[in-house]
Amino acid sequence: MTRASSLASTGDWRRAAAARGIGVEDLSRHTGSRLTGIDLAGPLDDDMVGLLEVAVAERVVLVFPEHGHLTPAGLVGFADRFDGVFNLHTRRDLCLPAHHEIFLVGNVDGGSPKVGLNWHSDDYHLAHPGLYTFLHAIIVPPRGGDTTYANGIAAFEALAPELRERLGDIRVRHSRRRLFRELFPDATEDAVEAEGRKFPDVVHPLVRVHPVSGRRGLYLGGEWGSAIESDEPDEAAALYARLLRHLIDGEYTYTHRWCRGDLLFSDNRCSLHRASEWDTDTDRRLLHRIILWDTEPPR
Ligand code: SIN
Repeated sequence: MTRASSLASTGDWRRAAAARGIGVEDLSRHTGSRLTGIDLAGPLDDDMVGLLEVAVAERVVLVFPEHGHLTPAGLVGFADRFDGVFNLHTRRDLCLPAHHEIFLVGNVDGGSPKVGLNWHSDDYHLAHPGLYTFLHAIIVPPRGGDTTYANGIAAFEALAPELRERLGDIRVRHSRRRLFRELFPDATEDAVEAEGRKFPDVVHPLVRVHPVSGRRGLYLGGEWGSAIESDEPDEAAALYARLLRHLIDGEYTYTHRWCRGDLLFSDNRCSLHRASEWDTDTDRRLLHRIILWDTEPPR
């Protein structure tokens, strides 16, 4: 039973937000809402946390603008209000010295600029993959570096009933080895194999039930590391590509143009997101990122 269960419907969380003086502006039809009138640096009661769990399950990403005053400790404190396990990144050198929970995305302070430039759900290659992600904009470039989110529940519900039925039995193999090869084309075969031994493949359902809403949605993992399990790989690859195209074609997406101080809170369970390039020679971009892992495998 989650904290959120008493607010399970859309109308409920929106009414609860209005009653607490929180402004809600939807940023596209299915994906992304901006919430104002809430200060995440302050204490949050359980009802508020439950409200946010339901809202993010439905909208995939919640945008909290004007949170430049939120400190790294405050960001960790906000994330800690939710279920899930902090991902303490294996590259400690790419995390904040005082906060191992916070990974540095970007080209500042030794951060990593090539993160997330493909469609993915965070840490999909793990048995207990990403649950929630928190991105806090510290420095934003004047152009580029936008992040796009896609709603796998809305996309699934729009498919023809026969196709939905067919997808129910399909499983997807998620391979860190395959992803590593795409990310580091110059890596030796030994390095690829070592990565594969560290993170063996996992298999998850293509369609999972979101535990907060009870709705079914697509869980595609990542375009560079995931493949439908099948005896007919060409057909399976074509189906995966078709579903990915359907999910990211625009109807189910929201693209965020960052402002300094934005805090984005997203739900990885039935969604994908993708960063975009910016001019790393002339411009700077720095996001503080926390990923909470799920405590359960996708079902
Ligand atoms: C990520 O996918 O973790 C990073 C997203 C971004 O840089 O916009």
